[in-house]
This record gives sequence, C-alpha cells and structure tokens, in this order.
Amino acid sequence: MVYSLQADFSKSDQIPGGSALLCASVNERRAQFGESGRFSCQQDGEEASPRAADGNKDGVTRVAEEFYHLSVLEDEVLQLMAVTEGEVVFDGTLGGGGHSERLLAAGARVIACDRDPAALAFACERLAAYGDQFKAYHGNYDQMDQLLAGAGEEAGVDGILLDLGISSKHVDDAERGFSFAKDGPLDMRMDSTADLTAEILVNEGGEDELRRILWDFGEERSARAVVRAMVAARELGRIETTGQLAALVESVIPRRGKRHPATKVFQALRMAVNDELGHLQKALEKSVNCLKPGGRLAIISFHSLEDRIVKRFLRQHSMAMLDRPEWPEPKPNPECYFSLPVRKPYAPGASELENNPRARSAKLRIAIRLESDGGDLEKRNKNRYAK
Ligand SMILES: C[S@@+](CC[C@H](N)C(=O)[O-])C[C@H]1O[C@@H](n2cnc3c(N)ncnc32)[C@H](O)[C@@H]1O
Repeated sequence: MVYSLQADFSKSDQIPGGSALLCASVNERRAQFGESGRFSCQQDGEEASPRAADGNKDGVTRVAEEFYHLSVLEDEVLQLMAVTEGEVVFDGTLGGGGHSERLLAAGARVIACDRDPAALAFACERLAAYGDQFKAYHGNYDQMDQLLAGAGEEAGVDGILLDLGISSKHVDDAERGFSFAKDGPLDMRMDSTADLTAEILVNEGGEDELRRILWDFGEERSARAVVRAMVAARELGRIETTGQLAALVESVIPRRGKRHPATKVFQALRMAVNDELGHLQKALEKSVNCLKPGGRLAIISFHSLEDRIVKRFLRQHSMAMLDRPEWPEPKPNPECYFSLPVRKPYAPGASELENNPRARSAKLRIAIRLESDGGDLEKRNKNRYAK
C-alpha cells in the first residue's frame, strides 16, 4: 500500500508529485519507526497514534477496538457503484475507511483522500492489507483532479464517492469541538492543520457575517438574537468552549422538544469553518472531467442544503434538451454530462436506521457520466438501476 500524506493544495502552489507529496510504503514506515509496527502519519510534526491493523480481503477488518464511524448506505453504494475487478474509484471522504473497504473487497482499486489527517491515518492502517490496491492522500476532495494526477490516474476514474460531512469520530471526540453535548475547545476544523477555527469565527467574526452564517447554513430563525448575545458575551471575554457556546445559545433559545437549541448554530458554524458547500460545488464541477464515460458518481448528503446543491447540479447537467419560452424550439444542452438512472435519492431502510440512527437524514444520489456526445449509455444503464 502506498501510504501518502499530501499537503493541502488549497494552501500552497504545490503540485502532485512535487516535494509536498510524501510517499512511503507501510514497510518503509515500519522500518522508520521500529519493529513495534509503529508507524505514523506526520504533518507539521504531528503524529497520529499508532494502531494495530488486521485487515483481510473478505471485507472484515479489525482495526483497534475503537469505534470510528458506521458507514451509511454501504450496500446501496456498493450496488450502485457496481465496480468490477480492477476498476478505479476515487473516495473523496475516506473517513474511517468503511466504504473504501467494501469497494476494495469488491476488487476495485481505490484512490482516497480526507482532509482530516487523523482519519487518514486510521483508515490507512485499517486498509493496510490491500497493499497497492489502495492509495490515500491528505487533501480536499475538490482537488480531485490534482490528487488523481498525482496517483497517475489523470485519464479519469470509474467511480467517485463523496460521503459528505463529518464522521462519528468527529462528533464523539470532545477535543474536536463539534459537539454541543460534550464540552471541548471551540474548534470544529475537519482539517486540524487549517487556520480558521470556530473560536476565531465566534470571537472575531463581524456581526453581519455571523448572522448570515447562522441563517444561510443553519436556517436559524433566532440568528439575530443569538449573534447579539455572542457579541455581548465576547466583550466580557472570549467564548472558548463548546459548553460556553451551547449555554449561551440556550440562554437565548429555550429548550423545546428533544432537539438541543444549539443544534442549528453548531451546524452553521461547522459548515462555515470548513466551507463545506463551497468545496462541494467545486467538487461536483471537477467530477465531470475526472470520470470516464460510464463512470458513476455517488453522493451521500445529510442535510437539505447539501442535497439541494447536488440535486440542482445533476438536474442541470442531465437534461438532454434546454427550452425557454422565447426560443423557437428546444436546443440540445451542451452541458449534458450525466444520466440519472433514478431521480429520487436512496435513503436508509428501517434495519439500517435501527442499527445506526445517525443515518436518518442520509440521501444517496447517483449519476452516470455520459460519453462526450451524450451517447446511449443512458439507455444501457436504465435497467441496471431500476428500483
Ligand atoms: C461521513 S465521513 C466519511 C465516512 C466514510 N465514508 C466511511 O465509510 O467511514 C466524512 C469524511 O469526509 C471528510 N471530509 C469532509 N469534507 C471533506 C473535503 N472537502 N475533502 C476531503 N475530506 C473531507 C471528513 O473529514 C470525514 O472524515
């Protein structure tokens, strides 16, 4: 397996294959860190904690006993991506490596990335048994073209998977600062090497900017009152912890029902800190040139803002003809790049939800890259994906 750590291209002009790309096989790393099997993922001197990996090709892996993340809609992803032996898939959201592992077990080669170095380290160790079938990079999925070029796959891939948002590990680890239910530093960065934290945003953000964030990304009706309270509080001292922020929001929005009143505020800040919608839009656009004809694009979203972006993009680029009242007749859409085997998104079934309530808002959309001329792939794929 190539165990790679790559600088975030968004923060530099470095190109794949350049000096920022550190590649070493697991064995080289083992040699570097001793026979204890201790190897690490390093960037800026940070070291991910070592874990024992015991993977096998039957899709069952034992990586430490630690719970990381339960992959959502795994069977559906596998069925819809329909990979065959030797096909190449880009997993832009490696996370705990669950989806990647299923794709690898089905015979695909996987090029993966995650912007979180800790997720990358975990998944690399989990998937070590797959050797050269698996390559992973530290990076943002919206740089998939550069990452794929760095992996020697500039000709395009047969599948792209994006399982959006954060992992269970992010929520469960108080130190990452994503959870209003657990006190920790107000951080919320997926990429722990990035500069902007929620603490900076909350304490230094302009009032207009904060109101816009809470409204645009959280649809928080009490945005104005919450921001007013934030500004009053920060005049007395910085708001530094998730507990402080959750209590502050609760002082403005009283508890009603099961949902914590800070849910939307936390979601909005997280999306702003990580520019989640910006990266998604960019990645969708890049996917057009990174997929081979017949390649499958699978995207799992967890809230309506993400799903709306995916749905609009796919609709816009799957219409064979465009029409406007002022035109004498419909015209072919020059940007018709995908066929949609099903229009409605897939959602988890009852048994998955019973096992994993966090999957409740997941929606999976699938699209197939057309031949450049729009081709007859559409017809061919229709039956394969009938619900
Ligand atoms: C829902 S988890 C993915 C879980 C994974 N599919 C699995 O089976 O374990 C999402 C992961 O994507 C990563 N991520 C989110 N946005 C990203 C981006 N723009 N670029 C790269 N990774 C991203 C997060 O750090 C997180 O580890």
